[in-house]
Amino acid sequence: MIKNSMLSNPQEFKLGCFSANCSGGLAVTKVPERWDNSWENNLRHAKLADAAGFDFLLPIARWIGYGGETDFHGSVLETTTWATALLAHTENINVFTTIHTAFNHPVVVAKQLATMDHVGGGRAGLNIVAGWNRPEYEALGGVLPADHEHRYRYAQEWIDVIQRLWRESEPFKFDGEFWQLERTYSNPKPVAESVPIINAAGSGQGREFAVRNADFLFTTVMSLEQTRQEIVAIKQQATAQGREISVMTLASIFCRPTRSEAQEYYHHIVDNADEGAIDNIIKIMFANAESFPKAALDSLRERFAAGHGGWPLIGTPDDCADGLEQMAKHGLAGTVFGFVDYNKELPYFREEVLPRLERKGLRLPANAGQRVA
Ligand SMILES: Cc1cc2nc3c(=O)[nH]c(=O)nc-3n(C[C@H](O)[C@H](O)[C@H](O)COP(=O)(O)O)c2cc1C
Repeated sequence: MIKNSMLSNPQEFKLGCFSANCSGGLAVTKVPERWDNSWENNLRHAKLADAAGFDFLLPIARWIGYGGETDFHGSVLETTTWATALLAHTENINVFTTIHTAFNHPVVVAKQLATMDHVGGGRAGLNIVAGWNRPEYEALGGVLPADHEHRYRYAQEWIDVIQRLWRESEPFKFDGEFWQLERTYSNPKPVAESVPIINAAGSGQGREFAVRNADFLFTTVMSLEQTRQEIVAIKQQATAQGREISVMTLASIFCRPTRSEAQEYYHHIVDNADEGAIDNIIKIMFANAESFPKAALDSLRERFAAGHGGWPLIGTPDDCADGLEQMAKHGLAGTVFGFVDYNKELPYFREEVLPRLERKGLRLPANAGQRVA
């Protein structure tokens, strides 16, 4: 039997790559070498990450770019088709799709995920987005529910339908507030016993939803000590419901042989920030989501330029490995990364940082025991 790697692999600190399907990746910068999200680059990136032993790939579902000089995220490969194709071209890595509950019918999504899981032999994953980006809802002819209570009530019913379709062998009637389904069923079921679920809510209602439904909650880090306390609270919330949840974050990484080279490259990126795009991201995000504390706005502009608000890791391979170790020590179960150019920088990370993480006991060598045949 094939075990699903993300839910059962023994890697102490899990690593993923984030947002390679989007133009610009994670860095909101105008530098000419900013990420080109062509299919060829994505395929190469996925194979590199797979061979290096990364645990997962996470795409961003984005329907409207952020404007600015570069129209950051103006070109985006659709997440489910992207993930399915990458699953067909990789061996061990989990590939997630990211789905907006409001834009995707749950019966269709249940079958898409099952299909992905068959293509990948049990390596599919689902990142659930309950909504925040108002211009996208307008572009798709919908209305973003004004309050979080409504967004997550809808999301709960949506995932309840999907989980039942994955589990139940007989057609069933679903009579909910948002969905009324007659004799609904879905075959085939996913290959894996359970499909790993990510949610990245920051709001109270969203966190409750994540604790009830997700295996991995993503949070943004403003200080590692604050994150440690957050994780303790989230885990307590989960235990009270008889559930387990791991907490991860997103990071941007600038790793070079010397500190001065790393700093120099970091400044090259942030000094060339696409300020117009950052203005738009912050405006939309702060009006509709609770991902970042509003008091942190000033420090966030630079972090957005470097990696969409991710926790920055800047320095030598030792510095970066130490930074990751600190994240693990504060309770994080892993992180996703954005590199400015994923394909140029990932090999250096693989050669220099991964062995250091192995020596620290945070990682096993590539794909060790990740899948049990
Ligand atoms: C790692 C990570 C991945 C995310 N992926 C997406 C995405 O692909 N599309 C999207 O619209 N929002 C994405 N988000 C935003 C969250 O899913 C969430 O909707 C947002 O934080 C608002 O939720 P809240 O108001 O409950 O905090 C992501 C956030 C994080 C931290």
